[in-house]
Amino acid sequence: MPLKNKILNTIKTCSLLTAIALSIAGTMLPTIASADSGMDELKKVLQSQIAMMKPELQSKVKDLSTDTKMSIMAILAMHSRVSDQATLRQVMLEVLSDYQTMSMGIMTDSAEMTADAARRLANHRIPVGGLLPYLGLDNINDGKLAVLESFNDSVEGNAIKLAEAADKGNMGEAAALLGSISSGCVGCHAVFREYPGTSELLK
Ligand code: HEC
Repeated sequence: MPLKNKILNTIKTCSLLTAIALSIAGTMLPTIASADSGMDELKKVLQSQIAMMKPELQSKVKDLSTDTKMSIMAILAMHSRVSDQATLRQVMLEVLSDYQTMSMGIMTDSAEMTADAARRLANHRIPVGGLLPYLGLDNINDGKLAVLESFNDSVEGNAIKLAEAADKGNMGEAAALLGSISSGCVGCHAVFREYPGTSELLK
């Protein structure tokens, strides 16, 4: 092979490699950059939530470990709808409605009704100020909050699995997952919720 061709071939191979390298970098770089900016976004959301809290809650939140704060940010990261007005009670009622729609979808064999409701449930609104202001001051410590992420995973994680089962038309699997989701609801209520709607006016 004449030297000129050899050089040309080398250039071609090199530029092919460069092209591959560039295209990998092209796909990787935005991912890395967006992971970073995603983290910054989450920190901003958490900071704006903390700014809304009364001083007594703020100081409890400041005492939380980095692990607990990371798990709160992990929960935030799974939800793209951050409300500036909804209370946790309103969010919970919306979640219950999505739960009921999910079961309606399963009972009527509607894959799309089931999957849409399950994905809405998994991406429920984050109430104004985040979850913490609604959990009670006594629950704002590393010990109590350590279980928060696991309840979130069992509700949101299983709702996403349920949506995928419905997408495949597998209503048997979807039905079985309803149980795991409601165990997550009930578990979280047992730790963080008081008996709902009690009246001060009853003896
Ligand atoms: C992260 C913990 C957590 C999870 C998970 C959770 N809840 Fe709740 N839920 C709460 C808390 C805390 C309250 C009390 C809120 C308040 O009164 O301010 C509540 C209240 C409720 C209420 C009562 C609303 C009212 O008007 O008093 C309903 C209904 C409800 N949740 C449904 C659900 C359903 C359905 C699920 C599962 C799909 C679920 N919750 C999962 C923490 C949770």
